[in-house]
Amino acid sequence: MLEKAKELLEEIKSFDSKDSNEIESFRIRILGSKGELKQLFAAFKEIPPADKKEFGAVLNEVKQTAHEKISNLKSNVSSGSNVDQKYNDLSRPVDQDRLGSRHPISIVRNEIIDVFHRIGYQISDGPEIEDDWHNFTALNFPKEHPARDMQDTFFIRKDPDFALRTHTSSVQVRIMEEQQPPIRTISPGRVYRNEAISARAHCFFHQIEGLYIDKGVSFADMKQTLLYFAKAIFGDDTEIRLRPSYFPFTEPSAEMDVSCTICSGKGCNVCKYTGYLEILGCGMVDPNVLENCGIDSKVYSGFAFGMGVERIAQLKFNVNDLRLYSENDIEFLDQFRSFI
Ligand code: DAH
Repeated sequence: MLEKAKELLEEIKSFDSKDSNEIESFRIRILGSKGELKQLFAAFKEIPPADKKEFGAVLNEVKQTAHEKISNLKSNVSSGSNVDQKYNDLSRPVDQDRLGSRHPISIVRNEIIDVFHRIGYQISDGPEIEDDWHNFTALNFPKEHPARDMQDTFFIRKDPDFALRTHTSSVQVRIMEEQQPPIRTISPGRVYRNEAISARAHCFFHQIEGLYIDKGVSFADMKQTLLYFAKAIFGDDTEIRLRPSYFPFTEPSAEMDVSCTICSGKGCNVCKYTGYLEILGCGMVDPNVLENCGIDSKVYSGFAFGMGVERIAQLKFNVNDLRLYSENDIEFLDQFRSFI
């Protein structure tokens, strides 16, 4: 094992690359959650006590050297040492007529807004820096409740708490506090979570929240509204399915899947052979939430739903790395020119 760790250290020291994909693969192989360093650390308990000290020291050196090497190589790439390669002639005249195009997140957000606008929903928004009441407490997340951990939060100030909103459900509360039913609104916006950035997670992303409150609104109304939405976005043949779930602010709660956009439900590696893809959370607004916002829960009922715009864009455009949405790589963005 010790030999293996030393060999790895040598390999890291001699590794060199100017290709960001290659550097990223190297990082995942060495430092990833199933990477070689993790495996060596896991083998620690099998090392004889006399060798533990040396083994531990080598592992720490491997870790530090790998971090330094990767960050150096990455900064070389981003500081432009591969610009020549990409655009080979830096003295060429600029493209005078290069027009901008819409960002894929804006394209999808506008499309979703349009779909709900057609059936009478208004658009509303709220602040990105939110207080505890609107982001959590009014939505039936009591203080110290473990459900708060579902959303890792960036706190800005403690007591009274201010945080970057973790979801656009906070806008629900603001609207219900300001208006009496009937309420029919969608709230698009940016949200923040304290997560490590990877292909599948980011520290900020975009959501659209939906809310419909009136007399006699039922689960069946929600299902039909969401079916209409799914067909409008993914095509007329799209089917939906609802699975029971839990959110503090809705009761009952569900997660909605759409039939797979790639294989139409037959089963493929995108839907992991289930035929379905998860796209949003929804449910009947919990009576506690209505009361917290000054709406009489004996008279009114309603449903709410929340979806991630990146998730829908990912399915529509087949983008499999969330980081692409915020890197502003012109070649990536250029692909969306034909959408307005
Ligand atoms: N706020 C939830 C989240 O960010 C999404 C959500 C789920 C919104 C269910 C809803 C809902 O309105 O009913 O994970």
